[in-house]
Amino acid sequence: MRTFKEHRPGDAMSQSITLAITKGRVLQEALDILDKIGIRPEEEIESSRKMVFPTNRNDIRLMILRGMDVTTYVEHGIADLGMSGRDIILEHGGNGFYEPLNLHIGQCNMMVAGLKDEGTLPNRLRIATKFVNTAKRFYAEKGIQVDIIKLYGDMELAPISGLAHRIVDIVQTGNTLRANGLVPLELIEKISTYLIVNKIALKTKYDKIQPLIDALGGATR
Ligand code: PRP
Repeated sequence: MRTFKEHRPGDAMSQSITLAITKGRVLQEALDILDKIGIRPEEEIESSRKMVFPTNRNDIRLMILRGMDVTTYVEHGIADLGMSGRDIILEHGGNGFYEPLNLHIGQCNMMVAGLKDEGTLPNRLRIATKFVNTAKRFYAEKGIQVDIIKLYGDMELAPISGLAHRIVDIVQTGNTLRANGLVPLELIEKISTYLIVNKIALKTKYDKIQPLIDALGGATR
């Protein structure tokens, strides 16, 4: 069996393509788009603990990663392409890859949210988030000094428990905010899923990757 190293971009011997996608709420929409262009995983992804899946195209395989890791794998060229939320791309910084397509799936908003009844707030707020860079950039651009507290999930608990005054997080239906007595306060950025492509892979595997980008563009228009 070939190792991933043998599939790195620039390897003239290997013209196989690795596409990184993520489990979770966008997986089915991502698979639907791939299905439209004739790419289907050969095994059930959702219920599997595997991380790499062959497809009906013997030159394309899918790598299933945590959302935050898709950009990292594409940046380093282990995956040639990825489907990644704009929230993650913003947080990552976008080094090492292009973002040729908005796939128009996984639409949501990056928001500042807080308690419905915030009471009197101090001048310097504590902001809980897993999007540390995004939150820092947002407040820096506004010229507001805040203290950022890094969390890995369940951000809504932070204002309720007093850990932070506000959160920076993804809001889709708004159900999680409502269920926890929080309200959206400021829109930071509209988010959707983008196709990302490793810069070197686009050059070295152009004949394979460009038709894929074109086909995906047609399928998501
Ligand atoms: C996200 C986000 C919110 C929730 C918002 O979490 O962190 O908690 O979704 O969605 P809603 O507006 O539709 O309620 P997710 O479920 O993706 O889990 P995660 O925090 O582990 O990424």
